[in-house]
Amino acid sequence: MKISVKDVPAEDIKCDALIIPLWEGQAPPRPIDSALGGLIKKVCASGEFKGRRAEALVLHTGSLIGPGRVLLAGLGKKGTGADDAMTRAGGASVKKLRGLASAALYTGTCGSVSPARFVEGALLGSYEFTAYKKSERKQLGALTVLAEPGKSLSSEIKYARTVARSVNFARDLVNTPAREMTPTALVRAARSIKGITVRVLDRAAARKLGMDSYLSVSGGSAEPPRFILASYKGRGAAARPTVLVGKSVTFDSGGLSLKPASSMETMKYDMAGGAAVLGAVKAASELKLKVNLVALLPATENLPGGASPNKPGDVVRAMDGTTIEVLNTDAEGRLALADAIAYAAKKLKPASIIDIATLTGACNVALGAEAMALMGNDDGLIKAIARAGEQVHERAWHMPLYEEYAEYIKGDIADIRNISRRRSGGLVTAGFFLKRFAGDTPWAHLDIAGTAWADKPGPYTAKGATGIGVRLLMNYIASL
Ligand code: BES
Ligand code: ZN
Ligand code: ZN
Repeated sequence: MKISVKDVPAEDIKCDALIIPLWEGQAPPRPIDSALGGLIKKVCASGEFKGRRAEALVLHTGSLIGPGRVLLAGLGKKGTGADDAMTRAGGASVKKLRGLASAALYTGTCGSVSPARFVEGALLGSYEFTAYKKSERKQLGALTVLAEPGKSLSSEIKYARTVARSVNFARDLVNTPAREMTPTALVRAARSIKGITVRVLDRAAARKLGMDSYLSVSGGSAEPPRFILASYKGRGAAARPTVLVGKSVTFDSGGLSLKPASSMETMKYDMAGGAAVLGAVKAASELKLKVNLVALLPATENLPGGASPNKPGDVVRAMDGTTIEVLNTDAEGRLALADAIAYAAKKLKPASIIDIATLTGACNVALGAEAMALMGNDDGLIKAIARAGEQVHERAWHMPLYEEYAEYIKGDIADIRNISRRRSGGLVTAGFFLKRFAGDTPWAHLDIAGTAWADKPGPYTAKGATGIGVRLLMNYIASL
């Protein structure tokens, strides 16, 4: 979809549809409504349009004004979640206008909410994963924002457009089936990003560094593991990087602790954390942000196999020397992340480490699809991440990492074990497991198991990969 900004009166612009965002009970813009003989007022008064969140009603205009149609886009009650209401309206509008060539956005009713949020929703809402389809649905062709093309609006729209495209980039990576989206394909994806440096550790290089915990996950697989380091450093950025670690298990069968068939169906999305960090680095690079970022993707498959799969009861050693009893080979994410976090803490002198991972089914149980779980060792970092998430409606809910959890994962013959001794607390014990590898470095952990995949489409998401994390991470990074 082409996006532009123009200063033209809404009644005059020639396009297929004029989009008018309206809060519940808000009066329509008078010049447009009177040109239409009071039509909008009438559908509002009759209750045919209420202005509910993500509501969208199309009216044909005859030739009374330039645009062939008016689309009334509901924003809901004014006040609560206004920014996200605009993003939703953007998504709902483009879904309604699918197949048309051009639309224009009337901005006089937006109030204090940036029209850039509408653009974001429009680009996210028109996403479809088409790689394997013979025919694709035609999306809206172009969107013109009707406003004075001031500098601040254009830079807000540029930001929104860049971030939304990076979310869609991440969605594509996650939606691509595991037979194609292998660790090696993730390397190609990283190398496709302009303005960044990509380094890759193969098995031998990772072994040299002592990443036995990470490598043990790939022992059953014929696809070679790839530990990806993708760095972006803006001009004048801080010396210490913010390290983003993304879980990148390109397929999680559970390994010898095999998952039931139905739980395995969607496990290509176990690299959604890796996709999110690549999306963030891509957007940061395209926007030339003044930040120092390193993304780490310890990519591997998790399969049973004849070579040397993890066997329940095995002991592996992470690169910081910690020994781990692998009692369940399906708790593989933490094994890979342990070495990535230890690598960051030891080798990269980071300002902070943020990991993002589809780590536990327990996260899904606790929070469903409404929030990711947030844990960490630094209150300031946790607060900043929670705030960044709230602002873009990628909500992150803080969970505790009490010292008492140490006993849950204490090993019998090794330092720790990769699953809890108890049935309860699966979300926080996974976080607690990761904590020790960060040492003194400020660290935060985001569990996106419940939010990275959608069973049904939303106003600005499609069924499948959501691309969650890109907007939160970008909002956090942009605040640095
Ligand atoms: N990738 C899964 C977590 C997951 C589950 C993500 C459902 C998305 C949806 C992870 O590797 C896993 O299997 N975790 C186990 C841990 C358990 C064995 C302690 C789980 O959550 O069941
Ligand atoms: Zn698993
Ligand atoms: Zn997994």
